[in-house]
Amino acid sequence: MRLLRLSALLTAASGLVRGDADFMSVRTSLAKDYSGKGGDPGEKYFHESTFHPHYDGRFASEALPETESLPHLTALMQTYLSTMADLGAETWIMHGTLLGWWWNQKILPWDSDLDVQVSEPTMHFLAEYYNMTEHHFNLPGVKGGRTYMLEVNPHYTIRSTHDVLNVIDARWIDTSSGLFIDITTVRANDEARQRGRLGALICKDKHQYDETDIFPLRDSLFEGVIVKIPYEYTKLLEEEYGRKALTVTNFEGHIWNEETKLWVPDPDAKKPFSKRSRIFRATEGIPTRSTPLSHRIER
Ligand SMILES: *[C@@H]1O[C@H](CO)[C@@H](O)[C@H](O)[C@H]1NC(C)=O
Repeated sequence: MRLLRLSALLTAASGLVRGDADFMSVRTSLAKDYSGKGGDPGEKYFHESTFHPHYDGRFASEALPETESLPHLTALMQTYLSTMADLGAETWIMHGTLLGWWWNQKILPWDSDLDVQVSEPTMHFLAEYYNMTEHHFNLPGVKGGRTYMLEVNPHYTIRSTHDVLNVIDARWIDTSSGLFIDITTVRANDEARQRGRLGALICKDKHQYDETDIFPLRDSLFEGVIVKIPYEYTKLLEEEYGRKALTVTNFEGHIWNEETKLWVPDPDAKKPFSKRSRIFRATEGIPTRSTPLSHRIER
């Protein structure tokens, strides 16, 4: 792991790299690069793997079986939230992740897309001090624990939504599975503000908000860890997914169990689902940091 950090440092020192950190500099065990980089335009920084859009092909050659991906995603979110809290970096959940929180403060078991947001100053801070840092965690029942990496897209300084290839500003990556969390920056929407909408905010993925939709953030729990929630969460969820997303209890092959407050696989669903929910609950536990926080840049 030390080698990985050193080579990451060297890559950083060699100036602006066009793609995400080179496979050879971050690889852990793979002999081949499944990053999907080959098929992407040169200006695109983050690549989605050749086998699945929610995996980083530098760290995996195939998607995990469904019984395993959910516990990996849970740990991914827990380690991200606790690391950001340790760094004093303000972050909140959004999109499908917020919808999962709304139902039972957990990840929706059918969703491998995890979304969080930060403000512009926070993204600057992460880019400046924590790009390519690795964070090792001990996880209950996982031998050797897992290492997570924070990687910041150098295009994050380009604020225009025309930069369509780089709408994701940073990622929190599980280097054991290749699964990741997309981190996007919420910025002042200068054009809209000039037209008089004073609190207008925008992300590079073109999602628009008003300051009062998000702030003041609310405190809550998600997957057993402290999390921040946008202030107008109901309004935001209804706008994005429609009212039904907050009431329909049979969704994506799962049924909402009002007693246990869990989404469970629907036995009558066309596509058979595994018993992953049960397995996942059995191994639940909060990861703990095993390496102290360190700054990447030596000054
Ligand atoms: C983060 O580090 C990677 C690897 O060195 C580099 O390609 C990228 O440009 C860096 N990001 C920022 C925001 O400096």
